[in-house]
Amino acid sequence: MDSDKVLTLAKRRGFLWPSSEIYGGIAGFYDYGPLGSTMKRNIEDIWRRYYVLGEGFAEISSTMISPEEVFVASGHVKEFLDFLVECTKCGEVFRADHMVRDFEPNADALSAGELAAIIDRENVVCLRCKGTLSSPKPFNLMFELGIGAGLKGGRKGYLRPETAQGIFTNFGLLYRHFREKMPFGVVQIGRGFRNEISPRQGVIRLRELNMAEAELFIKSEDDSWPKYQELSGEKLTLVPNEGEMVSISLGEAVEKGIIKKQVLGYFVALTQKFLVDVGVDPEKLRFRQHLKDEMAHYAADCWDAEAKTSFGWVELVGVADRTCYDLQGHIDHSKQDLRAFERYEEATEVEKKKVIVKPEVLGPKFKKDAGKIKMALEGMNPEDLAGKDSVTVNVDGKNFEVEKDCFVLDTVKEKISGERYVPNVIEPSYGIDRIFYTVLEHAYHEEDDYVTLRLDSRIAPISVGVFPLMAKSELIDKAKPIDDKLRSKGIMTYYDESGSIGRRYARMDEVGTPFCITVDYDTLKDDGVTIRDRDTKEQARVKITEILEVLGRLLEGKVALVDLAI
Ligand code: GLY
Repeated sequence: MDSDKVLTLAKRRGFLWPSSEIYGGIAGFYDYGPLGSTMKRNIEDIWRRYYVLGEGFAEISSTMISPEEVFVASGHVKEFLDFLVECTKCGEVFRADHMVRDFEPNADALSAGELAAIIDRENVVCLRCKGTLSSPKPFNLMFELGIGAGLKGGRKGYLRPETAQGIFTNFGLLYRHFREKMPFGVVQIGRGFRNEISPRQGVIRLRELNMAEAELFIKSEDDSWPKYQELSGEKLTLVPNEGEMVSISLGEAVEKGIIKKQVLGYFVALTQKFLVDVGVDPEKLRFRQHLKDEMAHYAADCWDAEAKTSFGWVELVGVADRTCYDLQGHIDHSKQDLRAFERYEEATEVEKKKVIVKPEVLGPKFKKDAGKIKMALEGMNPEDLAGKDSVTVNVDGKNFEVEKDCFVLDTVKEKISGERYVPNVIEPSYGIDRIFYTVLEHAYHEEDDYVTLRLDSRIAPISVGVFPLMAKSELIDKAKPIDDKLRSKGIMTYYDESGSIGRRYARMDEVGTPFCITVDYDTLKDDGVTIRDRDTKEQARVKITEILEVLGRLLEGKVALVDLAI
């Protein structure tokens, strides 16, 4: 398959357009045309069916711009980097790891020094002018922004590189939304932004991308998942980071320790079901585990769903174990309590050492500061006070020396009703644009120059073409009300009365429209129409009064047109 053919069709028929093309275009940015927007929405709606309806995850929509602090806490300011090299002659910029891919399969895990050594050893030069390349320099992929004006130039912020952080920063509110019951999941569909150094793979490497991300919050050591058994029989093609590729059921993969956690495996299998459901060819789908040094800064484990396309194996989804990395980062930086609470079935009593302040001694010594000093003392670790003659207490930036006659250390019995913990996160993160492209490419069929997009009827941007056989008023008067009726019931149609009927069918086949309805001269006698199937070209005759019911079943795939054919 040739990506040029798919992208040419996508552009000509309004699926995908290079952005700002009238000004020469800009690499890494694509617009969705009328058919593309509808098809993208159809894919997203099916994704919602899986996660919001199927798994009970809540959907939010957070801002695309956040202040710097969010991405300092998330580690992106420090870690979200690629290395670039510049041509010392013509100034062209390249991603350093892409320049050495032929010599090192895991190039994106290399350090600046390792990249420089390969560039030097293999004499890698500028792809444009063969000039010498600079040494690799780190480049942060986030788009930086100034938020607001003001004397100090406003506040620094970034366009989000992933939607996930909007979920993590809202954890406290979401936890309350779920009435403090764990586990729970939250999703977000929206744009992410990555200032890729030199994207050369068209729609595959975008600087502004559409993401659908799910964040499942679980108890740290809990790797089970209640729905695991439902998918444990799902057959998966796995490429583990150690060992050979295997075709194996999820259940076996977890039993053999290839996938370490049930919960991670469940979302790998769910991802496969979703991808195949929207039209990714299961024969061209595999799950590859990240190598240890390939993992994102926040991940302890990650399985990528990869599809075979004309661009090679392309990552469509990452299913990552993010541990408690993000929530802990936000706790440390925001000083907010983003922990969950697990109530014990029965409260237990424990003995605890405590600092007991003697107000009758502390009060006269420290007067108006005594209250705050008391609180600070009580918050201190009793072990740090044991055996000391005095202790330094800092209150509002001021140090007070408190002698040991102001407090005693005592052992008290305390009732413990539960414990607080920082939840772990399992994250299936879907790249919608790559899924969109892959579905187009896998649906593309060409025979004798005749192109058919074999899109699933729930994905196809147009569900039904409606045609009068000829542009005659008696046929138009029958066809138009059918078109109006279908649209009023939420079925996306395309009404067309121009050109030959064969040409009109071809235009619909080319954009994946699964069914076409034709009003002909027999319609005037029998009130019937023909319904034509895109893939088999079979036709069936159906009464106008029954069209809605028949189409409903055809579009849901509950019946094949061949079973209705006369
Ligand atoms: N949230 C996953 C990613 O940034 O790739």
